[in-house]
Amino acid sequence: MLMAATVGSVAQAPAPAPPAQPSPATVEEGRKIFASYGCYQCHGYEGQGGAAGPRIAPRPLPYAGLSRYVRRPAGQMPPYTEKILADAHLQKIYAYLQTRPAPKPVDSIPLLSK
Ligand code: HEC
Repeated sequence: MLMAATVGSVAQAPAPAPPAQPSPATVEEGRKIFASYGCYQCHGYEGQGGAAGPRIAPRPLPYAGLSRYVRRPAGQMPPYTEKILADAHLQKIYAYLQTRPAPKPVDSIPLLSK
């Protein structure tokens, strides 16, 4: 089992990392792909995390690690192989996750700022 996982990850050519500053069009495409592939169902529309999945944005894992995880998750998450979700689409999802705004600081909530 461990052997298979090791061999598989060595055989897989790492996909190139997407640009650090994606265009707004790419981010918008990423938003749609994130929704249509069901990521939002567990991770929330903003990748903020939900009942079924952890927070994955803003500040997602580095692309190589994220891609490795999505292809071969270790826990509850279903695997998304390259056949199901092409690298080009995963890169756009990444562009979307990377550009989510950070949550507002707690003291911007009046009730909590006292
Ligand atoms: C059925 C629920 C579900 C769906 C759908 C899902 N995930 Fe996940 N995801 C999880 C869970 C649960 C984890 C926590 C680890 C585990 O149990 O696998 C996780 C973990 C992750 C992680 C690792 C986070 C970390 O910090 O280690 C990434 C990245 C991720 N998911 C991305 C995605 C993307 C991108 C999609 C859509 C292509 C997606 N997930 C779809 C449930 C889901």
